[in-house]
Amino acid sequence: MSPPKNPLKSPLKSLIDEPSVPPTPRRYFIETWGCQMNELDTQRMAGQLMQQGLLPIQDPKDADVILLNSCSVREKAENKVYSRLGKYRRFKKRREDLLIGLCGCVAQQEGERALRRVSDLDFVLGPARVGELRQVLEKVRSGRRVVATGFPEERAYEFDTIERDGTYKGMVTIIEGCNKRCTFCIVPTTRGPERCRPFEEVLGEVRHLLELGFVEIELLGQTVNHWRDPHRDLDFADLLDAAARLPGLKRLRFMTSYPRDFTSRMVEQFAHHENICPFLHLPVQSGSDRVLRRMGRGYEVGAYRELIASLVRARPDIALSTDIIVGFPGETEEEFRQTLELVEEVRYSSIFAFKYSPRPGTAAPRLGEAVDDAVASRRLQELFAIQSEIQRELNEVLVGQTREILVTGLGKHPGTQTGRTSCHRVVNFTCGDSPHALGTLTSVVIEKALPHSLIALPSSAPSVGVSAKPRNASLPVVQ
Ligand code: SAH
Ligand code: F3S
Repeated sequence: MSPPKNPLKSPLKSLIDEPSVPPTPRRYFIETWGCQMNELDTQRMAGQLMQQGLLPIQDPKDADVILLNSCSVREKAENKVYSRLGKYRRFKKRREDLLIGLCGCVAQQEGERALRRVSDLDFVLGPARVGELRQVLEKVRSGRRVVATGFPEERAYEFDTIERDGTYKGMVTIIEGCNKRCTFCIVPTTRGPERCRPFEEVLGEVRHLLELGFVEIELLGQTVNHWRDPHRDLDFADLLDAAARLPGLKRLRFMTSYPRDFTSRMVEQFAHHENICPFLHLPVQSGSDRVLRRMGRGYEVGAYRELIASLVRARPDIALSTDIIVGFPGETEEEFRQTLELVEEVRYSSIFAFKYSPRPGTAAPRLGEAVDDAVASRRLQELFAIQSEIQRELNEVLVGQTREILVTGLGKHPGTQTGRTSCHRVVNFTCGDSPHALGTLTSVVIEKALPHSLIALPSSAPSVGVSAKPRNASLPVVQ
């Protein structure tokens, strides 16, 4: 056997001479854009990475695996993705074995094209393939570049490996994809056809989260109330009813409901179960029937109004929020005014309003003349101004009241924390030098109302519903 060419590099020599240094743990960094489904997908991917021994890191420069979990609902999402990947690929100069993956809706949309455009991109993983991250990484480590997109019938969904640390609520996907065809929306293309998880599996995951100490559960889906058990005659009202009865569940929410699919049995659940939060996100998109028709939404404003009235009858304290698109192709000033009228009438506790943005492969751009950008911007500002005033007035009603809030994080200023009321309002409150653990419930007295949040002081009443397990090691549990 010939001697090693460089004796200093001999494996034996290095074992003898070099002090033993524990291996540096490998690190991952995930950047997440978009909706709560993406947030949950990030938790699912983080769980798989942690199972492979990787730990999270704050700075992508020092990561061994970087994932960009992208969103393509609005704006020039593709351009944004490519500029971000351009930044990440520069880190490969320092860290040759860095792996970079594009995930989320832009991954599904771009597929192989992303690998062609970014030479240092290692893999592309679509939203329906999130459960395969481990296998994809194995292939990538063996030197292949991988595109995992599309919508396979068989999908891995391991809820017990989801990395939930640092979150204050337990999110549970009950329905993936979307079968609607709203003419402005790219989601059915990027997230694929609707797919419901079975009743028992969903309840099993909720029970698992309650055992971990979560007191708030959020059921998720693009059209969450269109859920049906794949095998039995059970719909979303049955699922809500069963989940709300689980011991330990203090707050049950769900997102996003499709107005046309909201049945009277679902409305009744708000009256039957106090732990179903008095809050509903019910996207209307426009207050004009003509616009709604061209959006392909399948309901009219009158039916939406009736639905709201029945919700208020069932739960008089219910807070409502909505999504609105301004400047949809062909939207006239009069049609926009109808949206303002609806907003003034319903008095939403919050709205998410967007300027219409054309998405590849959607029908909307053909359905009317594009609205001038300056006009759309002005409409958006007008809408926000009216909404801001409504929110301040609604928030002012709460001043002086004691509210139970779920602790969601640390505040901007030392000695403060943030939380959410059951009606989903943001509350900033003083905690002094004894902060509460994330995900626990505590009582506060509302002192001041702002348009987008409330300021509060701790109530003298003792804390309630304290979580069994701290989910953020940096915050102590309040006993
Ligand atoms: N059901 C989903 C909808 C996903 S898109 C959910 O709410 O989770 C979220 C919101 O983005 C829509 O309700 C709509 O108001 C807005 N949106 C979708 N496509 C858009 C587009 N092309 N331009 C502007 N806003 C859009
Ligand atoms: Fe998009 Fe309409 Fe489905 S907004 S997600 S196509 S319900």
